[in-house]
Amino acid sequence: MDVAMKDKVAINWDKLTFSITPTRSMYQAKCEIGKQWQSGKLIPYGDITLSPAAGVLNYGQGIFEGMKAFRTVKGNIGVFRPLENAKRINQGCYRLCMPEIPEEMFMDAIIKVVRDNEDYIPPMGKGALYIRPIVWGTGPVLGVAPAPEYTFMIYVSPVGSYFKGALSGINLKVMENYHRAPQFGTGCVKAVGNYAASMRPAKFVKSEGFSEVVYLDAREEKYLEEVGSANLFMIKGDTLITPELTGSILPGITRKSIVQLAVEEFDFTAEERKIAVEEIFEADEMFCSGTATVITPINSITYRDEKVVFSGGNVGEKTIKLYERLTSIQNETGEDSHGWLKII
Ligand code: PLP
Ligand code: COI
Repeated sequence: MDVAMKDKVAINWDKLTFSITPTRSMYQAKCEIGKQWQSGKLIPYGDITLSPAAGVLNYGQGIFEGMKAFRTVKGNIGVFRPLENAKRINQGCYRLCMPEIPEEMFMDAIIKVVRDNEDYIPPMGKGALYIRPIVWGTGPVLGVAPAPEYTFMIYVSPVGSYFKGALSGINLKVMENYHRAPQFGTGCVKAVGNYAASMRPAKFVKSEGFSEVVYLDAREEKYLEEVGSANLFMIKGDTLITPELTGSILPGITRKSIVQLAVEEFDFTAEERKIAVEEIFEADEMFCSGTATVITPINSITYRDEKVVFSGGNVGEKTIKLYERLTSIQNETGEDSHGWLKII
């Protein structure tokens, strides 16, 4: 620990929400355009200075990731499939013309920042340490072009549930006339601008009491895409269905893991295909998935003037099974048959 003396962290673990708690340190590395990343280091968590002409501020040249570190029943600290995040951040860097991060550098940075902030990781079952890697164009630029300098940062924060009352299920609303991301845009990477685009639609539905928006495809407004911060799943009998990755949907790491577990361990048939919005009327269960949202059951989806309630408004049994299996890998109460949890 080279930043500050480790002091006793006073956090009420029972009151964690998905919000920022300042921690001890964050990681920072810089790169000039056309050169290699300089070696990064931990610095105290806090504000940073930026040029008002920074590419990220003016033109949204920025990518982020979301990961979690968990305390496990074996007393370990584990991060779920971090190499997948390393690969995805680089797909985002490529799309936004930013220098890619060598995978070893990404992994080393994650380990450094998690270890240094170890005492901010909630006890098992109370939450996780959310890890937020970012790559931003921080050099000044006036014309629309890649910035001359880039910053790779990672900050962390202990977090609880993303949605209030998530475990008992959430209510969503299908949004028409507002889209998160078009095909061939930046929906398939975690570009910062995608999330700015989702704020107005989310504000509309939240004012009506819904937790989030269900987006339809931007071309025809016919097919389910995803939620503003998570992927979408439908269960019909023993079939698990999720929208195929057409370019506008984020290829979720949780999504991919759930599909694999469902097929290999639960005898589900998995379908990745276009899902017409009307199919929600025939679904037995629905849920959304993501690092922040884990597996969150969906109680109802409102489409136009109809509210479709799943499992009689209760959390679906198959959804619970998938939730339990996924979290058993993350907290080592179950077998990690695929080696997905990286112990650090
Ligand atoms: N969809 C969107 C728009 C997201 O922001 C996220 C979160 O990262 C996801 C889906 C789920 O992805 P993952 O499971 O990799 O966290
Ligand atoms: C995540 O699940 O990690 C996300 O990035 C979603 C959200 C907080 C934007």
